[in-house]
Amino acid sequence: MNFNEEYQKRVELIEEVLKRYLPEKEGYQKIITEAMEYSLMAGGKRIRPMLMRESYELFGGKGKLIEPFMAAIEMIHTYSLVHDDLPAMDNDDYRRGRKTTHVVYGEDIGILAGDALLNYAFETACTAFDLEPEHSLQIGKALQILAGKAGIFGMIGGQTVDVKESGHRISEDVLDFIYRLKTGALIEASVMVGAVLAGASDDETAQMENIAAKVGMAFQIQDDILDVTSTTEMLGKPVHSDEKNEKTTYVTLIGLDKAGKEAERLTSEALCGLRGLGHENKFLEALLDWLVYREK
Ligand code: IPE
Ligand code: IPE
Ligand code: MG
Ligand code: MG
Ligand code: MG
Repeated sequence: MNFNEEYQKRVELIEEVLKRYLPEKEGYQKIITEAMEYSLMAGGKRIRPMLMRESYELFGGKGKLIEPFMAAIEMIHTYSLVHDDLPAMDNDDYRRGRKTTHVVYGEDIGILAGDALLNYAFETACTAFDLEPEHSLQIGKALQILAGKAGIFGMIGGQTVDVKESGHRISEDVLDFIYRLKTGALIEASVMVGAVLAGASDDETAQMENIAAKVGMAFQIQDDILDVTSTTEMLGKPVHSDEKNEKTTYVTLIGLDKAGKEAERLTSEALCGLRGLGHENKFLEALLDWLVYREK
């Protein structure tokens, strides 16, 4: 398998889906839809919708039911980035190789564009009921997962502890809690929604959640590593943001080397879990491996 080719093909498909589900830019409120498009279509690795679709296929899902949910998860993730970059949070000026949304459109529209992406994500996901009304039960379950993992016991909860625990050293336990929620939760939601919509059992969905929790931790550790070792050009976002905001990270807590090893360990555990499921998806396996060695 040529991983880069396969990955690129999937990114193109995801971007086509995202464009299809973006709202019309019209009305007196046109600026908000422009700001939504600006942040959403700026690029990005698109790993959440990708993981969602791969998980859907892993459990035998076919057809277009997954597409509104792929758009929804990327909208929720993008909203989390737009708000994460605001002056009141990480105060960063670049994202996905462009000026951040609040820098271009102002802080007021930046806040509203984040709100709009979150709400529109659910409007979009709900269109799945029109696509396949016969699968309403699975769609309802998928919506429940999405809402929960984005919320106070998911991403928002993690971001809350992240901002409140800046400026001083925190324990590995608290750091794990933050990573599991701020980053892990949306990655867990991605694979769980894919599984549920494909008709996986509760047990299989829980196994996917566990695998994704490890992937999410490894993903955030690598994000922290890149914040220290990479460049703004490569990442498309400012480096040394964590130092500027006095964040405790795996790098400050255990050092670069050990942090890298921990990310690798978590990834091999995730791969082991994936291979033990009794379904096979070679691209998904390669994707998990790529994520921990990614350079951006
Ligand atoms: C950045 O996520 C925020 C984290 C959870 C570390 P990504 O690294 O997936 O950002 P994009 O979507 O590729 O821009
Ligand atoms: C943010 O973590 C995770 C989110 C929920 C947005 P970071 O603050 O480390 O993400 P980046 O480095 O700005 O992408
Ligand atoms: Mg942050
Ligand atoms: Mg940030
Ligand atoms: Mg970061």
